Amino acid sequence: MSDISTQSADFTDSERAAARLELDRLWARGTAFLGTEFAILGGAMSWVSERNLVAAISNAGGFGVIACGAMTPELLEAEISGTQALTKKPFGVNLITMHPQLDELVQVCLRAGVGHIVLAGGIPPASAIRIAKDGGAKVVAFAPALVLAKRLIRMGVDALVIEGAEAGGHVGPVSLTVLAQEILPHVTDVPVFVAGGIARGDAIVGFLEQGAAGAQIGTRFAAAEESIAHPKFKAAFVRANARDAMTSVQLDPRFPVIPVRGLVNEGSRNFLAHQADVVRRVQAGELEKDAAQLEIEHFWAGALRRAVIEGDVENGSVMAGQSVGMVKTVQPVREIIGELVEQAVTALAHRSSRRGN
Ligand SMILES: Cc1cc2nc3c(=O)[nH]c(=O)nc-3n(C[C@H](O)[C@H](O)[C@H](O)COP(=O)(O)O)c2cc1C
Repeated sequence: MSDISTQSADFTDSERAAARLELDRLWARGTAFLGTEFAILGGAMSWVSERNLVAAISNAGGFGVIACGAMTPELLEAEISGTQALTKKPFGVNLITMHPQLDELVQVCLRAGVGHIVLAGGIPPASAIRIAKDGGAKVVAFAPALVLAKRLIRMGVDALVIEGAEAGGHVGPVSLTVLAQEILPHVTDVPVFVAGGIARGDAIVGFLEQGAAGAQIGTRFAAAEESIAHPKFKAAFVRANARDAMTSVQLDPRFPVIPVRGLVNEGSRNFLAHQADVVRRVQAGELEKDAAQLEIEHFWAGALRRAVIEGDVENGSVMAGQSVGMVKTVQPVREIIGELVEQAVTALAHRSSRRGN
């Protein structure tokens, strides 16, 4: 059976060079914004996106992003300088907007000369955007709908990420296929990067042609050789199919559960039983509603670290996107990025040959 990724030999060097030029033209806005060779961002992943993976992505021509998560300002400062020791290329820092020391974390990034700050986890406060921009950094934010994209642009953000429900980690309800159609034709003021379910270069080309400036990828990089994730975490990725990466299920409408996409395991099954037990205790008058909500939220406390660092892929939270089905082996970052670019170039060469030029 023929596969588009194996047909690159069908093209001459000059056809491939023309396709490569076309790719550079298609994502020029993204590469200019990021200051990189390729408009491929490594999506920030808590516990995973630390100095080694971030530097490897940037050194390979992409744009690595540190996941600050719950780090203190001191820890973030150390992580940034550790990354700077490993790469001279640009990289960014992802900050979660509900972090109680958000403004201080922004200051840490500015003092260290980080050029791009990604604000995740809800609409960022105007103060954080202002501090970042006054300090000379570019601000990137997530837009889960067109109205919010427009609001974020009015608030001064310099670029947007639209992340579909296919993605790993905390997700919204709408697929990237739909978000791209709702947002890309209407947002031209700032570059827009697409995320969620992307594992191949031909898919990247499709979104670039729809108007995206580049793509953000998490799952494929989590399983990279340079990722510090536990070998069992990476092995679970290699084994999994797309359908194994499910969102967490909410049992009772009174007790909201933030949807998180990850591999189904003993932990996700126990989470349902835990919710059922909490609901039963509320109904029996043994537990107040607020305490019950906290018990539900605390179930996953520390669970991502347990899976990523300790390798407990049965009870931990193995966050992964549906693209996990396309992770076939543990590869160096440079090879992953090389493959994505190669597939993009091949896809463009095919388009050109179909047009007869
Ligand atoms: C293990 C894991 C942890 C993640 N943690 C974060 C995070 O801390 N902050 C964030 O903004 N996104 C987080 N994400 C989302 C990624 O940054 C990225 O947008 C997503 O993985 C893209 O979809 P993909 O997994 O299909 O490539 C995480 C994703 C994974 C797989």
